[in-house]
Amino acid sequence: MELIGIATTGGDAPGMNAAIRATVRTAAAHNLKMVGFERGYAGLLADEYRVLGVREVGGISHMGGTFLKTSRAEEMRTEDGIARAAKVLRERRMDGLVVIGGDGSFRAACKLHEVSGMPVIGIPATIDNDLAGTDATIGFDTAVNTALDAIDKIRDTATSHERVFIVEVMGRNSGFIALEVGVAAGAEVILIPEIKCDVETISRRLVDGHRRGKKSAIIVMAEGAGDCTSIAKALAGNTGFEVRLTRLGHVQRGGHPSAYSRVLACKMGAASIRFLLEGRKRDMTGIQGVHIVPVDLEYASKTPKEIDAGLYELALTLAR
Ligand code: F6P
Repeated sequence: MELIGIATTGGDAPGMNAAIRATVRTAAAHNLKMVGFERGYAGLLADEYRVLGVREVGGISHMGGTFLKTSRAEEMRTEDGIARAAKVLRERRMDGLVVIGGDGSFRAACKLHEVSGMPVIGIPATIDNDLAGTDATIGFDTAVNTALDAIDKIRDTATSHERVFIVEVMGRNSGFIALEVGVAAGAEVILIPEIKCDVETISRRLVDGHRRGKKSAIIVMAEGAGDCTSIAKALAGNTGFEVRLTRLGHVQRGGHPSAYSRVLACKMGAASIRFLLEGRKRDMTGIQGVHIVPVDLEYASKTPKEIDAGLYELALTLAR
């Protein structure tokens, strides 16, 4: 094994830079050369890359985003796109590819492995934390803390005006951010796609809370849990409370990675090279408990990750 490629793909996540640095420097420690593809799979398809040595990845760990840039390359969903990417990897005489990204990126990586035989290692980096086989993904902790900071501020104005606030957080298909930040912020209601809750139930909870002396409330809602604008309208109509809506959006994807996201990125970046040297062909660097373990990449990208129902129940118990 001599030459390894690396790319950051899909939605960016704070800690991707730290993961690139850790991968490149671990590779250097084993006398492996690395190149980074620009703009994720888009750069791979266009054969655009740069050589990454230990100096090229200096001073980037604290930065959000990804200095290699990223994209959602639709072509990688097609057989033609996969074949073209495989051709570039072969022509460049790569011995392995490290893909830093989420489920869509890993599905494409599995196809690439199937077509080219190239060993591929996935490093899970998405703020959504929606990959099976790993307790955490790079960027999730940072995004949760960014959202928490915003919600704490919203709490101040909600209390002062005795209003209900719906705060929409990211998570198109999953409620991991909403649940985690909802518990941390002491939200009165948490709405996630995995657990259905109708407007009548939410209204009842708000009215009951009001009777018990709760004059304001925070509802943390994942993007995928429904249309926040119509829920806000329906709640105002049902309860008579003043309801305001804040969508946190892409602010959750940026900013300096938290210490946890950086350390996780260091461990996973190092493991990606270790896995390649061990001869692994199609694995993800998962964290289970305190251990970094290999997880089948296809399993990780295709298996729905279960939400922590116990944590959801706890949130209900504590919101009284
Ligand atoms: O997958 C990460 C994520 O931030 C989701 O939470 C969100 O729904 C989506 O990406 C937004 O994607 P885009 O930046 O392409 O609009």
